[in-house]
Amino acid sequence: MKTVQIALYLILTALLTMPAYAKETSQLKAPQYKTYRIESTISEDAQSCIDCHSEMSKGLIADWAKSRHAHANITCIDCHQASAADKDVSATHADYSEIPVSAIVSPKDCSRCHPAEAAEYAKSKHANTLEIIWKIDGWLNDGMNNEIERITGCYACHGSIVKIKDGKLDPATWPNVGVGRINPDGSKGSCSSCHTRHKFSIEEARKPEACGQCHLGPDHPQIEIYKESKHGAIYDAEGHTWKWDSAPGTWTPGTDYRAPTCSVCHMSGINGVKATHDVTERLAWETQAPLTVRPNEFKPWPADTDPTEERNKMKDVCLACHSQAWTDGHFNRLDATIENYNEVYYKPMKKLVDEMYEKKLLSKDKPLDEKLEIEMYELWHHEGRRARFGAAMMAPDYAWWHGFYEMKKRCMEIETEVEHLLKSGKPAKKFNVRGTGGSTKKPNFTK
Ligand code: HEC
Ligand code: HEC
Ligand code: HEC
Ligand code: HEC
Ligand code: HEC
Ligand code: HEC
Ligand code: HEC
Ligand code: HEC
Repeated sequence: MKTVQIALYLILTALLTMPAYAKETSQLKAPQYKTYRIESTISEDAQSCIDCHSEMSKGLIADWAKSRHAHANITCIDCHQASAADKDVSATHADYSEIPVSAIVSPKDCSRCHPAEAAEYAKSKHANTLEIIWKIDGWLNDGMNNEIERITGCYACHGSIVKIKDGKLDPATWPNVGVGRINPDGSKGSCSSCHTRHKFSIEEARKPEACGQCHLGPDHPQIEIYKESKHGAIYDAEGHTWKWDSAPGTWTPGTDYRAPTCSVCHMSGINGVKATHDVTERLAWETQAPLTVRPNEFKPWPADTDPTEERNKMKDVCLACHSQAWTDGHFNRLDATIENYNEVYYKPMKKLVDEMYEKKLLSKDKPLDEKLEIEMYELWHHEGRRARFGAAMMAPDYAWWHGFYEMKKRCMEIETEVEHLLKSGKPAKKFNVRGTGGSTKKPNFTK
């Protein structure tokens, strides 16, 4: 029979508790170890992995044993077995097992059993982010930061290009679980960005904290915005009582949960809107861009979507819990916010700064090494995004205090600096930016 059940026994090794004299001594409780014994009729090969690894990697085995995978008899071999010819096969592991294994389990490996999720993911901005950022980002293209800053910063969220060096995974590129990691088999991403191994839990991915690992901070504070919103307040108050593990398509507002999480609005199936692993769906704007444009008009990575259709999908999400008038009212305000940001703040400031370039008072030589360049950057990249995101996701503090208020102040700084340059007629001071020198060689993404 295929439905082999894995019996899992928790044996509490009752460790000796100290006898009577313990009364006088300030007794330290002896640790109580739990051991897992896994019994099944899974193949001998798979059992060998489990036996050896349950000694040395207890936490890992415990996670796997609790997963739906274990219950469906999906074992270590199903995910880690490699062919001896694979680039990423572990050379040292041959000392322990005859079965070639690889530490990397890529979206391509998962796609054997989850083809739909992998295909949607592959076209998302998440999967393709390295190519996108190498098209537009000054920190990278002009070497304005260095490799260690990139490895511990950018690439931890965006993903590394995993390389093999002397038969081993190159520690400069591994470990890494960034959303756009490029794997030795050519596939993009790391499914454990949101579903941590070895539980691969749907529950974990549906909670906002999964997204908040990367979506936080001054330039994309979605988790802070969510926590400030009424939706987030409800999640904080009663999320622990909701049902999180319903099968996709059956996770029901009202019954299983009462307020949306990131996943509900951006990914889960709800109210006739199909579940998706492509987070670009349901968006009508590129609110992270300097000038807000439509996703299909975003030149570095034009989405294959129609903004009106995607807006209607997002509205259908809201309509599972709200009325049409409430929903329309919200989006009218969002669209007016975008217009306000683009026309009142971004365009006029960009025009001022461009004039400084034309007059050679600012140098195009390198980005981000003159005061005015940093001011302009923070205008759109920090407060300008916060205002837009705050309005999109119901956080008035971000829309105003961290957003438009800060922008008003920033515009004063920009205007002051422009006035100063015009008055002095001398080119702006170019700073010798510290920690530069990262490679400016664009990786080849077309193969
Ligand atoms: C006899 C013990 C033993 C057996 C059997 C065994 N392993 Fe391991 N495994 C190890 C040790 C020790 C390490 C850590 C050292 C290393 O990576 O070379 C390891 C590491 C790994 C790694 C991480 C490799 C890396 O580069 O980080 C994976 C993945 C792995 N094992 C999977 C498996 C799978 C799948 C099986 C069954 C086919 C298996 N192991 C069987 C002992 C074993
Ligand atoms: C559903 C697929 C899946 C199964 C089943 C699975 N793994 Fe993994 N394993 C992964 C993924 C994904 C990673 C992270 C590597 C990556 O990001 O590509 C990983 C990482 C590892 C690592 C190295 C990471 C670390 O934290 O040191 C070891 C060792 C490992 N697995 C052993 C095992 C063993 C032993 C089993 C069986 C009990 C097992 N795995 C079952 C998918 C799986
Ligand atoms: C050999 C087939 C196989 C492979 C390979 C595989 N899975 Fe699965 N996975 C399954 C099956 C079968 C289930 C459904 C179990 C069930 O319905 O109870 C499942 C369920 C899941 C779930 C839902 C878990 C839940 O809590 O409901 C997630 C998430 C998942 N897999 C992610 C992954 C990821 C990520 C990888 C690659 C690292 C992967 N799977 C590799 C077969 C596989
Ligand atoms: C904490 C995780 C994290 C770090 C660290 C990080 N980013 Fe990002 N980055 C993100 C997220 C999340 C977004 C998506 C912003 C949005 O759409 O709201 C993003 C967006 C971007 C974008 C815009 C992409 C687009 O579609 O327009 C660029 C470019 C970028 N990051 C480059 C970098 C570079 C270069 C570094 C390092 C100097 C870096 N990021 C560091 C998480 C991170
Ligand atoms: C950006 C975060 C994120 C990443 C990365 C991600 N997932 Fe998911 N995944 C989710 C969320 C959220 C859900 C729950 C969606 C829902 O409620 O329907 C989910 C659900 C699933 C399910 C359960 C669906 C089912 O039909 O049983 C599977 C399987 C799955 N993901 C596989 C993958 C695979 C394979 C990858 C890598 C290609 C991956 N996921 C990458 C967030 C993510
Ligand atoms: C490991 C880091 C990481 C995690 C975890 C993560 N993201 Fe992202 N996300 C990013 C990065 C990086 C980008 C920017 C991609 C780009 O535009 O180049 C991004 C972009 C996005 C976008 C904008 C897409 C677009 O087309 O502009 C949405 C929406 C999004 N993420 C939603 C989510 C949700 C929902 C979750 C949790 C279920 C999540 N993300 C988890 C890193 C992450
Ligand atoms: C109530 C629904 C809702 C919730 C909850 C929600 N979002 Fe959003 N999100 C939106 C809407 C609406 C937009 C703007 C859509 C548009 O483009 O018209 C948006 C925009 C975004 C963007 C900007 C995309 C871009 O590049 O323009 C990112 C990134 C994002 N959300 C991530 C998240 C994350 C991460 C969480 C959880 C911490 C989250 N969202 C929670 C509805 C939601
Ligand atoms: C799963 C149900 C659910 C979904 C889906 C949902 N909401 Fe809500 N929303 C709620 C609940 C519950 C409240 C709290 C109502 C109250 O204040 O009594 C709320 C409150 C709000 C508020 C009031 C915020 C405030 O500060 O008072 C707005 C605006 C809102 N939602 C907009 C949206 C939009 C826009 C969407 C879709 C992008 C959406 N909601 C999706 C359940 C939901």
